[in-house]
Amino acid sequence: MAVEPLHAPDAGPPPTQSIYGGFAYFQGAIVPFDDAKVSIGTHALNYGTACFEGIRGYWNPDHKEIYLLKLAEHYQRFLKSTALLKMKLDVSVEQLCELTREVIQRDGYRTDVYVRPIAYKASPIIKVDLHSPKDAVAIFAMPMGGYSRIDGLRVTISSWRRISDNSIPARAKITGAYINTALATEDANAAGYDDCLMLTEDGHIAEGSAANFFMVQGRTLVTPPVTDDILVGITRAAVMRLALDFELDILERSVDRTEVYQADEAFLCGTGVQVAPIVEVDGRPIGSGRPGSITLGLQDAYFRAVRGNDPRYRQWCTPVYGGMPRIT
Ligand SMILES: Cc1ncc(COP(=O)(O)O)c(C=O)c1O
Repeated sequence: MAVEPLHAPDAGPPPTQSIYGGFAYFQGAIVPFDDAKVSIGTHALNYGTACFEGIRGYWNPDHKEIYLLKLAEHYQRFLKSTALLKMKLDVSVEQLCELTREVIQRDGYRTDVYVRPIAYKASPIIKVDLHSPKDAVAIFAMPMGGYSRIDGLRVTISSWRRISDNSIPARAKITGAYINTALATEDANAAGYDDCLMLTEDGHIAEGSAANFFMVQGRTLVTPPVTDDILVGITRAAVMRLALDFELDILERSVDRTEVYQADEAFLCGTGVQVAPIVEVDGRPIGSGRPGSITLGLQDAYFRAVRGNDPRYRQWCTPVYGGMPRIT
């Protein structure tokens, strides 16, 4: 069986590249991306009252197809986030899935892509509450390759705490909450680390800056529970499913900081980072100091599944251009 390269450097540009060209779903129509503009008075721009998703699409050159990963699951979470912000949007998961396919079809991309749906408080109002008369949805996509390195991350424990559920709930992808991520990532990068782990207010590991955390102890995967101020990741669920194929045990429980230092292996997972081994935390090597075999096995299985190369997981993949219909 051909082994797929773990990292395709030609798969697309990095996330730091400015978005340009292409199309967007905006104000009920698909328009050129450059024409999709909002007023500077927009409530969401002023107060962070928007929520979003990040969805990857993987180009499969043999199938000549882009597979959108767990598309319906992302839009189910999206609508839950909008409900938390009391948004009134008359759109269903099915409609959002179809609009996403249409936007990328118009883009005509034949590469790995990243899709950004965003729902926002659109009224130009100064009052800080959730009663915007107008809520809106937009969707755009861009070519995107790796978000961060997948051959071994050096991370630090951030001095910034993860926002708690009773401050700004992490379980909803609220734009304003990502200041928390930006502060932590900025400091970690400035100190020379690839990324960071964030602690809950009571000092347990919550997650990475924009990814969920797993550590490996023997043949057990340990990950913080959904009640430890994490975004309940869709990749997290995918990894847990793949772990069953490797006959790994899975434990969702609070994780102490020093347990991470002593773990056999550790990794981050998320739409952006995909499955990214952690090889060092605060200068301490994790396990052998190289990506562990369980992590690499999961990473390989993940990449095969998301690119539509594992028939057992084809139901995770929604084709953009046609091809095999999604089995639900
Ligand atoms: C804060 C945070 N945690 C975790 C994740 C991972 O979630 P998912 O796997 O659904 O992309 C993300 C997004 O990628 C995130 O922004």
